[in-house]
Amino acid sequence: MTTDPWLDRRFPDAAAMEATALRRMPGFASDYLSGGIGAETCLARNRADLDRAILMPRHLVEDAAPDLSVTIAGQRLAAPFGVAPLGLGGLLWPGCETAIARAAGQAGVGHVLSTYATTAMEEIRPLAGPTAWFQLYPPADEGMERAMIDRAAAAGYRNLVVTVDIPGPTRRRRDIRSGLVVPPRIGPRMIAQIARHPAWALRAARTGIPEFRNLSPYFPAGSGLAGAAEFLGRMMQGHIGPTRLSRIRAAWQGPLLVKGVLGREDATTALDLGADGIILSNHGGRQLDAAPTAAQVLPQIRDHLGEGALILADGGIRSGLDIARMVALGADAVLVGRPFLHAAAIGARGPGHLIAVLHEELATTMVQLGCGSLAQLRGRVASPAPF
Ligand SMILES: Cc1cc2nc3c(=O)[nH]c(=O)nc-3n(C[C@H](O)[C@H](O)[C@H](O)COP(=O)(O)O)c2cc1C
Repeated sequence: MTTDPWLDRRFPDAAAMEATALRRMPGFASDYLSGGIGAETCLARNRADLDRAILMPRHLVEDAAPDLSVTIAGQRLAAPFGVAPLGLGGLLWPGCETAIARAAGQAGVGHVLSTYATTAMEEIRPLAGPTAWFQLYPPADEGMERAMIDRAAAAGYRNLVVTVDIPGPTRRRRDIRSGLVVPPRIGPRMIAQIARHPAWALRAARTGIPEFRNLSPYFPAGSGLAGAAEFLGRMMQGHIGPTRLSRIRAAWQGPLLVKGVLGREDATTALDLGADGIILSNHGGRQLDAAPTAAQVLPQIRDHLGEGALILADGGIRSGLDIARMVALGADAVLVGRPFLHAAAIGARGPGHLIAVLHEELATTMVQLGCGSLAQLRGRVASPAPF
């Protein structure tokens, strides 16, 4: 995995990709992508808590080329990071979902497709390759839940990620202001924004109005936008209690990870109910402004569950150094969200470039730290985690 010198000069890191991407996106899309809940303090803490994780280098060690590969639920991945599930991709940057999946598949890193993706799971699965995972928001209807699980299995997804941190609707002020609703209704204000963003508009003209292709087969026949909104509001709500999680566990034959865990109780419950691992996440600061961050709770959850437990984490990761920080704090691997959308918006080769940059940044960080393996990174925090 090597970076392209031309792309590297223009986009040396994820921050450079973000700056260009946000300029190219209409306001309703960049707001939806960038925004968090409430005053966005949780969103800010995702970054701040990572910045506070100081790592201790060791120089009096034998040289070893850093090995970034990792085994997650029995599967070898090229690096300890993957693509987080991001809904509404086709609205944020038309065509981004296939570009991101293809790049992840080519690089052999994990790729988690959202229930709310605008490309069908059957189309994404061959692009993302054997490291394709499907993220399920369990619908309230048991028959639909089973149908979606069976469909993901038939499409060849290996791992199922069950997201549990959306028990009800939230009020995100950026989306309230921009008028963005789900499913999207393109009104006059949005059209004005689109007109000022020709790169986005050209792509949208090619791909058409985004639809939730993983969910639309279950919409009541003939339901228009209003009917679909009512259906989704009814189906996509409620806590995923032990009864629902046990039922999903029984229905899915492969590895299952629970995403959205932050505390010891939920971590223990998920594993007791048969989950193969957990993903520590506050949903990118989008659900509860007072929620802890994954970086903050990682050391205590790792301590609580022990080294044998599979723990992934996400939130605010923007560089290979951040990946090293999460691994040092206790994660086996991480998911990266918004940066993949930014990368797709800089061009078709953006997602592959982001993967190469993160890979190279992590490798060079490991050399600086004197770590030949991810196992040697564990616990390499310079002081007890400052939380
Ligand atoms: C625009 C957007 C859409 C998202 N959609 C989903 C989703 O459909 N399913 C899910 O489990 N998480 C979703 N998330 C949360 C991400 O999977 C992930 O937890 C979070 O973005 C990680 O933080 P980061 O963006 O700072 O890397 C979404 C996040 C964003 C920003």
